[in-house]
Amino acid sequence: MSYDEFYVKSVIRTLPDWPEPGVMFRDITPIFKEPKALRMVADAFIQRYMDADVSHIACIDARGFLIASIMAYQMQKPLVLVRKKGKLPGETIHEEYKLEYGTSAVEMQKDAVAAGDRVLVFDDLIATGGTILAACTLIKKLGAEVVECAALIDLPDLNGSMRIQDAGFPVYTMLAYE
Ligand code: PRP
Ligand code: ADE
Repeated sequence: MSYDEFYVKSVIRTLPDWPEPGVMFRDITPIFKEPKALRMVADAFIQRYMDADVSHIACIDARGFLIASIMAYQMQKPLVLVRKKGKLPGETIHEEYKLEYGTSAVEMQKDAVAAGDRVLVFDDLIATGGTILAACTLIKKLGAEVVECAALIDLPDLNGSMRIQDAGFPVYTMLAYE
C-alpha cells in the first residue's frame, strides 16, 4: 500500500477555534480509528528511516508516542520518551518552551540517551517548533546527536520547521497545512 497524501489528509479532522479562538486544530485521532490510514502513515515513516543511521527514537508526549512506538517496534530501535514535566521518575533534565497556545516544559530521564547515540526525534505535528526544539536541546545536553526531527504534520505559517532547521536540526514532515 503506497502512501497517499490526499487520503491521509481526508482522514485528519480540522476543528476551528479549539482549544481557543483562532487556532485551527488538526486532529489526528481519526487516523487511529482507521487501520488503513495508520498503517499507511507508519509504514511511510518506517520506510524513510529503516536503513538510516539512527540508534534511538525519541518521541514526544503525548501524540508523538503513538506512531513512534510502531516505528520503534518495526525498526527494532530503542524508544525514549520526552514527556511533559513531572511525569518521568528518576533523575531527569527539563527544558521550558512556548506553545501556539500557552507555555510548557518537557523532560527526559538522564540515562535516556548518551554521547555517541544518534537520535531521531518524532512528534505528530510542528506548529511553532518550540516542543521539538526543547526536545533537541535536552538530547544535546545529554551528549547525543539529533539525526533528524520528523513529524506527520507541519504548519508552515507558524515557522516552526524553519526555526528547527535554523537551529541546525534537519526536519522531515509528511503533510503541510497552510
Ligand atoms: C502539540 C503537538 C506537538 C506540539 C507542537 O502537543 O502534539 O507536540 O503541540 O507545537 P509546537 O511546535 O508549537 O511546540 P500538545 O502540547 O498540545 O500536547 P499533546 O500531544 O499532549 O496533546
Ligand atoms: N499543536 C499546536 N498547534 C496545533 C494545531 N493547530 N493542531 C493540532 N495540534 C497542535
